[in-house]
Amino acid sequence: MSSFINLLIWAHLIGLAMAVGSGMALSQVGPRIAKGDEKQREALWDVYGALIRLVHGGLGVLLITGPLIVWLRYEGFSGLDMWFSIKMALVVILLISVLVGTRAGKKLRGGDMSARNTTQRAGMLNGILGILIVLTAAFSFNA
Ligand code: HEM
Repeated sequence: MSSFINLLIWAHLIGLAMAVGSGMALSQVGPRIAKGDEKQREALWDVYGALIRLVHGGLGVLLITGPLIVWLRYEGFSGLDMWFSIKMALVVILLISVLVGTRAGKKLRGGDMSARNTTQRAGMLNGILGILIVLTAAFSFNA
């Protein structure tokens, strides 16, 4: 069982790399879409779509493996510390913010310029939340 749990932790960290790495790359693509000409935008939107899929895939891996680790390694949520509770609260806010940002991105891609501020704000919030979630994850289980 312990090897299986180790594999889940490995997958959890791969999910983290996918979500955070692609999110960071998005922070470089977004402003270039805003500044680019018609032809550049077309190509950049394709990259944007691929990165968004990686973010969603990474979050999916985190959301599947996380509860499994809690269940199999820590035998449920009851013994987990305050840092872990803060992490879970931040994960919920992140999921909402990613949803809002993704929807606004779709609107913007469809030509609705009013969605631009929302995509920028959601992108920034996602970055800050990602950093804070990793911080709280590092402090969890060490009390
Ligand atoms: C955006 C979502 C998430 C991110 C960025 C994230 C990030 C991380 C990181 C960086 C670690 C490693 C911490 C360390 O080794 O000290 C970790 C571990 C862990 N995470 Fe997550 N996590 C996320 C979601 C979740 C969820 C939803 C759960 C459970 C409901 C969860 C449960 C766990 C557990 C139990 C560990 C400890 C693994 C161990 O025993 O070493 N995570 N997470």
